[in-house]
Amino acid sequence: MRGLIIAIDGPSGAGKGTVARAVAQRLGYRHLDTGAMYRAVAWKALQDGLDLADEAAVAVVAERAALEIGPGRVQIDGTDVTAAIRTPQIDRAAAAAARLPRVRAALVKRQRQAGEQGSIVMEGRDIGTVVFPDADVKIYLDASSEERARRRAADPSHGVGRHAALADVESELKARDYSDSTRATSPLAEAKDAVHLDTTGLSIEQTVGAVMEIVGEKLEGGK
Ligand code: DC
Repeated sequence: MRGLIIAIDGPSGAGKGTVARAVAQRLGYRHLDTGAMYRAVAWKALQDGLDLADEAAVAVVAERAALEIGPGRVQIDGTDVTAAIRTPQIDRAAAAAARLPRVRAALVKRQRQAGEQGSIVMEGRDIGTVVFPDADVKIYLDASSEERARRRAADPSHGVGRHAALADVESELKARDYSDSTRATSPLAEAKDAVHLDTTGLSIEQTVGAVMEIVGEKLEGGK
């Protein structure tokens, strides 16, 4: 049996990144942060002076750019953008790029290629619904918007700025959730067969433990 495809979806700040990374590490699986792909494409489009409403032009970036989404490092066309893609400007630009159907089609294709061999934990918004509707394990991670804003503001890899008011971080998050959930092409939505995990008040360890239990059951059942 090939290794599992584990899909972790949910809104911003629900803890997907930290949890997906930890689960992948425990299983010896690869981890793919698909949000980083949308962010890197948006960064490159801005860098090239493209208009984010120009779907054809942004789609060319999504189709052709060399993307390396490694552990702790993101590169596009040879440029390290690990820190540059975690800013409020790119939060907004990535959400805009993610609304474009041709950009999504290009990145979904690349995500399927990256994951088809299995042994992967893939995190995003549409992994269990669109990218891998037959994923072996589907988790939908959620948390209250207050908690998600607190986590985002405390995340050292994300340049929201330590001085940003929590209320502003929360309203930006809600605006992005709204954009992600209402777009026409593969909006953020919970797959019917996903396990819903509300992580409000749970530690990272507890959340990772809950996901590992679900994965363990799947591995037992598949034997
Ligand atoms: O997970 P993130 O915040 O880094 O995602 C950046 C943006 O990309 C966000 O607006 C949601 C969007 N996204 C998406 O539409 N589909 C995915 N599979 C991953 C991210």
